[in-house]
Amino acid sequence: MPETRTRTRARKAVIPAAGLGTRFLPATKAVPKELLPVVDKPALQYIVEEAAASGLTDVLLVTGRGKSSMVDHFDRKLDLEQTLAESGKDDLLDAIRRPCDLAAIHTSRQPEPLGLGHAVLCAAAHVGNQPFAVMLGDDLIDERDPLLPRMLDLQADTGGIVVGLIEVPREQTKLYGIATAKPTEQEDVVAISELVEKPDPADAPSNLAVIGRYVLPGEIFDVIARTQPGRGGEIQLTDAMATMANEGTPVHGVLFSGRRYDTGDRQSYLRAVVKLAADRDDLGPDFRDWLKSYVDSGFNSTFDSGAGSAG
Ligand code: G1P
Repeated sequence: MPETRTRTRARKAVIPAAGLGTRFLPATKAVPKELLPVVDKPALQYIVEEAAASGLTDVLLVTGRGKSSMVDHFDRKLDLEQTLAESGKDDLLDAIRRPCDLAAIHTSRQPEPLGLGHAVLCAAAHVGNQPFAVMLGDDLIDERDPLLPRMLDLQADTGGIVVGLIEVPREQTKLYGIATAKPTEQEDVVAISELVEKPDPADAPSNLAVIGRYVLPGEIFDVIARTQPGRGGEIQLTDAMATMANEGTPVHGVLFSGRRYDTGDRQSYLRAVVKLAADRDDLGPDFRDWLKSYVDSGFNSTFDSGAGSAG
């Protein structure tokens, strides 16, 4: 890999957010799943904060029917700002202004839910022929363990595809895109020769799973456009990346071992909320005390120490 970077670093992030959120019904009947709070911030805000912290201040949300409130979250709300300013609630004023200062938010529509690959294809006109990041809203990466900047730098070096990878237990390969990979000179980077979408554990070539962070070259759009429906009858991003790997595009994975919170189903969402709340400087001390006592009570539903009621 060349030492000097000769290519452009991606500047745009694409967030596929057209899904119906069926795993969280009825909560998601009228509220987009991306706006469900993880502690006190919508899941989507964490993702846009990560994009901005990685230097990506042009963010495209690929949205669908009934999801326009997602975009409102990133607009100013002047009447509320005025009320908060007049009552001296500066912390809350900062909190509602923060999402507006992160990035320029654009949207594109995915008219039908035809798969992740298809959602990414809906970004083609906005992105053009440049490298770009794809960030899936179900994966929150802890800001103390940044992954995306490393991936963006690597993509600028190779000009190819870079994905985030984690090791998963074998039985979980059917939940992820799985990579066939070999080590490189860089300890945290592997070279990927093949990718397969959600293989059964018995057929999985490894336990290296693609998490929801990708940096892709603009050429991927043409490849997605000729990708046939795959797993689940959907146009899969994994299949388009696999085609590019076969046709000679360099594909690398950055191995991630930092803190990550999955919010994609109810079990993992609950764990994410508990972990992030317990870790917070403001809420954490009271919440941890309460949680410890609650566990010690044997999950007795009438238990309530009363701690933390001020928050
Ligand atoms: C998608 C991708 C899969 C990837 C996963 C990461 O699946 O298709 O390859 O491993 O995201 O979260 P989904 O979780 O949307 O079913």
